[in-house]
Amino acid sequence: MGINIALVSKSEEKLYGVLQEIKELCGNSVEYKAFPINFTRGVEVYPELQKELEDLDIGILINNEKLISQPNFEYFIELSNSKNHFIEMLNCNVLSVTRMTGIVLPKMLQKGKGVIVNVGSIPSKIDSPFMALHGSTNAFVEKFTMDMAQEYKDKGIIFQSLTPGTIVSNTKNLEASTILFPTSEAFVNKALKTIGKQTQTSRCISHQLIDNSFNFVNFVSRKRSSEAATKSFKQLWLQGKRKFHKKLEGEKNCEKIN
Ligand SMILES: NC(=O)c1ccc[n+]([C@@H]2O[C@H](COP(=O)([O-])OP(=O)(O)OC[C@H]3O[C@@H](n4cnc5c(N)ncnc54)[C@H](OP(=O)(O)O)[C@@H]3O)[C@@H](O)[C@H]2O)c1
Repeated sequence: MGINIALVSKSEEKLYGVLQEIKELCGNSVEYKAFPINFTRGVEVYPELQKELEDLDIGILINNEKLISQPNFEYFIELSNSKNHFIEMLNCNVLSVTRMTGIVLPKMLQKGKGVIVNVGSIPSKIDSPFMALHGSTNAFVEKFTMDMAQEYKDKGIIFQSLTPGTIVSNTKNLEASTILFPTSEAFVNKALKTIGKQTQTSRCISHQLIDNSFNFVNFVSRKRSSEAATKSFKQLWLQGKRKFHKKLEGEKNCEKIN
């Protein structure tokens, strides 16, 4: 008998496409449920989802939703003025992970077993000025998971924080995969083998090396690594501003000509 599967994802069309693929792979021995939900909508999406999930016996929760990034390198004040983008980031990157954990954990505790894997990414490891909200929401996923792992380790619940580097997940770019940029399939195969063995991992040796080198640089001189990150991210912010002003000037010139 296989594991029954419940999928939550944003776009309905893609969700049912993935569901179909899984059905073809796993056949009729498995039950499936699918819930198209956009986590950026915040607290309003959970009561209904909780009701739907109530009767299911969930043994493994994988919080793998794409964490929202900032559109550009920018000062927080610029981001906080742009179309509630920062609220959507908090809803998707922080609230979804905590609410989904809160929904499945009670039943896992009753059974005395369960696995919760939260997927973040490497920005949680480095100082991210001009990307502060992106970096810190990724760091939240990691810290929350590590703390929960300690809190629930005697109750049979395994928590794992996965912090990958770049993964080639777009099927059109599969030939671009290398040892540094593995395919999602290769990454997942390796990551699954670490559940229950490693509470925090970047899995895949290349990403672990990047991860360890950040830890090493921070260990040698936190101040210097902070300064270096600030310098290079500020440069990227400036480049973005220059591009934006060039585009604006181009548009104004076009208007004059017309
Ligand atoms: N790809 C990378 O290079 C990379 C690097 C580091 C970390 N990661 C992490 O690895 C995980 C998977 O990444 P991926 O690139 O494979 O992501 P993805 O395929 O773009 O998205 C993963 C899933 O999240 C769903 N999703 C996206 N936004 C959502 C929202 N607002 N509400 C509900 N569901 C939403 C997607 O649904 P739709 O398909 O409908 O959009 C999809 O099912 C993420 O946690 C990501 O942060 C990825």
